[in-house]
Amino acid sequence: MLPTINPTTTKSWAELNVLAKESNFTIQDLFNQDPKRVNKYSFEFKSTYFDFSKNGISDEVLKALLELANECDLTEAIEALFSGQKINQTENRAVLHTELRRLSKKTPYSEQVSKELEKVKKAADQLNAGEWKGYSDKKITDIVNIGIGGSDLGPKMVTHALRPYWKSIKPHFISNVDAQQLIEELDGLDAETTLFIIASKTFTTQETMTNAESAKNWFLKNGGSEPDISKHFVAVSTNKSAVEAFGINAENMFEFWDWVGGRYSLWSSIGLVIACTIGYSNFEQLLLGAEDLDNHFRNSAFEKNVPVLAALIGIWHNNFCRYESQAVLPYDHRLRFLPSYLQQADMESNGKSIDRSGRKISYQTGPIIWGEPGTNGQHAFYQLIHQGTKIIPCDFLMIANPDHSLTDHHDKLFSNFLAQQEALLKGKSKEEVQVELKESNGLDQDVIPYKVFEGNRPSTSILINNLTPFNLGMLIAFYEHKIFVQGIIWNIFSFDQWGVELGKQLARPILSEIQKKETGMHDPSTSELIKKSQDMRK
Ligand code: F6P
Repeated sequence: MLPTINPTTTKSWAELNVLAKESNFTIQDLFNQDPKRVNKYSFEFKSTYFDFSKNGISDEVLKALLELANECDLTEAIEALFSGQKINQTENRAVLHTELRRLSKKTPYSEQVSKELEKVKKAADQLNAGEWKGYSDKKITDIVNIGIGGSDLGPKMVTHALRPYWKSIKPHFISNVDAQQLIEELDGLDAETTLFIIASKTFTTQETMTNAESAKNWFLKNGGSEPDISKHFVAVSTNKSAVEAFGINAENMFEFWDWVGGRYSLWSSIGLVIACTIGYSNFEQLLLGAEDLDNHFRNSAFEKNVPVLAALIGIWHNNFCRYESQAVLPYDHRLRFLPSYLQQADMESNGKSIDRSGRKISYQTGPIIWGEPGTNGQHAFYQLIHQGTKIIPCDFLMIANPDHSLTDHHDKLFSNFLAQQEALLKGKSKEEVQVELKESNGLDQDVIPYKVFEGNRPSTSILINNLTPFNLGMLIAFYEHKIFVQGIIWNIFSFDQWGVELGKQLARPILSEIQKKETGMHDPSTSELIKKSQDMRK
């Protein structure tokens, strides 16, 4: 059981409120006051460098935040997580995704985990050796992963992040119930050489089951026959009977367990598409990287604990500075799906308003997570980040060594990554603008206020040596634990997702109405929209 402590009743929360009210320094002031600030607020973990110094955290603020973690019993909560207590209380489940990557230690879960990993390895090896043959004896060349949410976002993000590690199999992803995606992805594929992975923890998700049925029909219409299905369809799920009912036999099922949350499942056989695409040994490296970060998280003092520090800084921004969102800005095309992956990881985990005692919460919980890769975002929404009325804390991510030799591109990318953060920190004063105008004999004086940047906008830099599977595993685990720590302090249950249910529930009768099977009662707007859509579709 997790402790249930209303964070607003703690001494440190009150202190942080006072510190926030009295805070009259800028981030630049903090640098001026303390020349060692960068060293103090940056951390090297293996090949990754985390720099938190460009956030408006003074030593006093950090001290109070660390105290908050203690007052909220974070140490006990971390132990509850790793020791398999049923901390997902509203679903009565343990939360043990860390067991999926605990490769260097024998635990009560090792046997079942390694049995499934063996199966994943066998499939990945067979596919890449060209030994997995389709119905016409041609080798499989393409894999289509059909899943949504955690059964899509994690595998898709990782597979694309590790593009340089791709072997002989080309991956595709279908998630949306909108058939357009299915049609586009299947276009050009050959049924003889395509393998479908139906990935669904529950094997009941409407989108996935609809897409799976359509994929089966496509396969049957394009040369395959019923007995060939076993060579072209596999399932990853916790629901054996539903998998069999769909027509996939047990040998073609990869299992995982209810103690793995959907959005934390890429480490399990849900990662099959990753392992098949990058090869099993690289998949194992991903797990090892995450395990390393797990050990750091479990064993390090909070003041040196990278996910804990990131979480506490986020709490300062969210609850005391009242910033509402958090941008994730990877300066790397390979990491383009990281923001959407983190949207689910963070917002489905911490978008809650009832505390662990069942009471309505009176303070802010999970932030809005959003972002796009740099430099694209610079030409779209950075205007608001630099000069808008909202303050957006940003995580800037950069890979020091690219996987290509176009150095000129990389130098430019790097300079933008650094310059944006410097601009957010320092801004540009009225005086600086005046000097610039004078020098250039440029625009008239009226334009000065528009060219001023206030600066003092917080950012965190994450600089990674290489985007290897190991380093990526570490990075993902860093974010997972950051989210966990915040959920503990906000006194919420981070591992359920009841908020997605109502929409699903209401869609069922509406579907019946749309298909003209029954009529229903709705609010006036929905009723009119149903009528209008039926009219338009005639
Ligand atoms: O509807 C939300 C959700 O349950 C997510 O938490 C989950 O990752 C996704 O749907 C997919 O679920 P499944 O893997 O069971 O198809």
